[in-house]
Amino acid sequence: MKKAIYPGSFDPVTLGHLDIIRRSSKLVDHLIVGVLNNSGKSPLFSVDERVNMLKEVTSDLDNVEILSFSGLLVDFARKHEVQTIIRGLRAVTDFEYELAMSQTNRVAAPEVDTIFLNTSLKYAYLSSSIVKEMAMYGGDISKFVPKLIVDKVYDKYNTAGEISTLKGED
Ligand code: COA
Repeated sequence: MKKAIYPGSFDPVTLGHLDIIRRSSKLVDHLIVGVLNNSGKSPLFSVDERVNMLKEVTSDLDNVEILSFSGLLVDFARKHEVQTIIRGLRAVTDFEYELAMSQTNRVAAPEVDTIFLNTSLKYAYLSSSIVKEMAMYGGDISKFVPKLIVDKVYDKYNTAGEISTLKGED
């Protein structure tokens, strides 16, 4: 059985993440989406919220499982007997960080390999921070995150409904 882990913070999950999840799920028999619980960033959404949002938006994908993890990614991979990590590359700026991370993981766990998928061009600019910044000011985030997630992000900033108010303003 071919298994892989797609790890990340997913704070919140974006359409770019979902694109990688959908494409990865076709490459393996079982895909674990690993939601990081010990990020240095202070997350907007709790780990349970992030896990539940991912479960909702991947409910149509039978071979995708959403789990949280803390500690080292390679330990999480070993625990679930997974030898493949999947990461998305949006632009060349991601490359240096991703290469260092994959090489470190390979030294720590030589049996675990990292595969990079190029992010679809239409999401190459996207990040969870951009989504949060747009939502904070009541901007339209419906092109950035799955429909089910839009209001959950606005609710965090109490900005739901402000989009129409903002239209027509400078
Ligand atoms: N579409 C849209 N956005 C994407 C994306 C895509 N396909 N791929 C990455 N991003 C964005 C994310 O939204 C995120 O944006 P933000 O910084 O604004 O929040 C950013 O790129 C990077 O996020 P993510 O892919 O979630 O990675 P991360 O840096 O938060 O976490 C881990 C990376 C979880 C893989 C890594 O930190 C890890 O393994 N941690 C465990 C500890 C460990 O083992 N450390 C040793 C590794 S060297």
